[in-house]
Amino acid sequence: MSYPFQLRSAADYEQAYQSSVQNPELFWSQIAEHFHWHKKWDAVLTWNFEEPKIEWFKGGQLNITENCLDRHLPAKANDTALIFEPNDPKSATQKLSYQALFDRVNQLAQVLKNNGVKKGDRVAIYMGMIPELAIATLACARIGAIHSVIFGGFSAQSIADRLQDAQVSFVITCDGAYRGTKEIPLKSVIDDALVQCPFVEKVLVYMHTHTPISMLKDRDLWWEDEVAKVVALGNPICKAEVMDAEDPLFILYTSGSTGKPKGVVHTVGGYMVYTTYSFVNVFQYQEGDVHFCTADIGWITGHSYIVYGPLCAGATILLFEGIPTYPDAGRFWDIVDKHQVAILYTAPTAIRSLMGFGLAPLEGKSLSSLKVLGSVGEPINEEAWHWYHEHIGKGRCPIVDTWWQTETGGILISNMAGITPAKPAYATLPLPGVQPILLDENGTVLEGNDISGNLCMRFPWPGMLRTTYGDHVRCRTNYFATYPNLYFTGDGCYRDTQGNYRITGRVDDVLNVSGHRIGTAEIENAINSHTGVVESAVVGYPHDIKGQGIYAFVIIESVHGDADLSKLDIAQTVTRLIGAIAKPDKIQFVQGLPKTRSGKIMRRILRKIAEGAVDALGDTSTLLDPSIVEQIVKGAEL
Ligand code: WTA
Repeated sequence: MSYPFQLRSAADYEQAYQSSVQNPELFWSQIAEHFHWHKKWDAVLTWNFEEPKIEWFKGGQLNITENCLDRHLPAKANDTALIFEPNDPKSATQKLSYQALFDRVNQLAQVLKNNGVKKGDRVAIYMGMIPELAIATLACARIGAIHSVIFGGFSAQSIADRLQDAQVSFVITCDGAYRGTKEIPLKSVIDDALVQCPFVEKVLVYMHTHTPISMLKDRDLWWEDEVAKVVALGNPICKAEVMDAEDPLFILYTSGSTGKPKGVVHTVGGYMVYTTYSFVNVFQYQEGDVHFCTADIGWITGHSYIVYGPLCAGATILLFEGIPTYPDAGRFWDIVDKHQVAILYTAPTAIRSLMGFGLAPLEGKSLSSLKVLGSVGEPINEEAWHWYHEHIGKGRCPIVDTWWQTETGGILISNMAGITPAKPAYATLPLPGVQPILLDENGTVLEGNDISGNLCMRFPWPGMLRTTYGDHVRCRTNYFATYPNLYFTGDGCYRDTQGNYRITGRVDDVLNVSGHRIGTAEIENAINSHTGVVESAVVGYPHDIKGQGIYAFVIIESVHGDADLSKLDIAQTVTRLIGAIAKPDKIQFVQGLPKTRSGKIMRRILRKIAEGAVDALGDTSTLLDPSIVEQIVKGAEL
């Protein structure tokens, strides 16, 4: 399969970028022509950022799974679509050809239909990283149901919040999942969540770990049994639902600076075009390459660069169930050699944690199949960049530092492997169609280079979010109200003298812990619901491996038992309400919090204390009670 829209030189990139800005509609319609549509669109783009209203390829009719699967048949029927590497290296690897993946998606799509799932219904998927997770998302897309994949690390309460928000009627899960030495009882977590969600009608359960589970009559169904019924009927094909380009494809919940996570909504047509275009260009995918993205499908990276982008491009994807350090810190490198991986796409946290094991885990690993390395999810520091480049890429593989967000659907700023230059710790240049702009806090546009500001986008691209589920006002307030007529990313950014972009991190109250987004307000709410807690304030601090660690300052009425036990209790409450990814690394009991006279917590001061920069606290004279700061500094957990 060749990609007519694959850019092959810096000059190609320049030219594409210019056309994409001069005539975005022509530019994107020419790319969209290369996909399978039942009917072409009426208008390429209709938009305004006030409401916001963003429509790409409206009136166009398609089904994304026909582009991921049917379109590759029969030519690629026997080519490998998916390689599955299980958690336990001694368990058998699985390979699914495009034909096999097509068959399994069709069977499951028919199962969903037989159980009453219709176009527009919301289906939640809570599974480990096994092929059935990818199959479940595609089966939903095939019948036009809107999937909401929930990362396997979220707690029952987090799941219940998401199920309620999206009014989910059908859940797909498995008995359990393996992660290193741990076995995660997914079905049992779902059962706990469903106590609060009587509107969920059916739960489909895939057996994977053979963990004992409880199956409720009239609600819970076995995946295998349901598929067997479909197979017995002997009709292997489930006709793909014809969707409008602007029909929703999925909801994915992500944390913001306020309140509960919001359901970012992506639609079918624009998302398909953008993820495929960015995939083949950023990674310079070539037919036959094995693409190994280590993200979980529960996050946007897995949606866009394990499932949709690569499969639309007819690529071979590698899905890994386990963790980088099990059974030892050489696991990624074993997988690269075993499956002759060409593209490795991972997060700086993983690189930093593997760096900590030194070079011994690399001994005897060839890594000669690698062609391109990718980084995503958080800023990559120079040390990690160089280690990745030298020891993994052996100095010959370009690294793409890809900046993007759940809301952007696909990569917006990145170099293109071997095509445009890399610069350590820089995402570098915008993709064609992407128009970044920097502003200061007062909304003044910062022109020219060698300047830092808040990163916004001034023009829509096909992969951007359309709304937040059930609350369009929230979408507007979060992304389109800070700066009129611009999409605000929430990230700070530096533009160097050559126009390369370097993302410096969030400027709002969102933390990025091991590449996972978590709102400080969410963690505070969880801490505040612990008995005896009066108030809390959570900030991030630099963490050698995780990028950011979570530091909680907590006012507590009285301590039960010893203080350390109380801290563990609080951490346990956060784990129960959100999940282990939100558990504070440090908890400090304080008498008070630094507040202004109007009662606002001065987080700037708390951040400095958490960083250990107690000599740089700045002006504390506007505080209601400046002596509080001294007390906090004395008790700081450094
Ligand atoms: C951060 C993940 C620096 C950023 C795809 C963004 C990055 C947030 C990079 C989105 C990068 C992502 N360099 N920072 N290459 N990629 N980020 O929604 O702060 O989970 O706003 O999407 O991660 O996280 P999300």
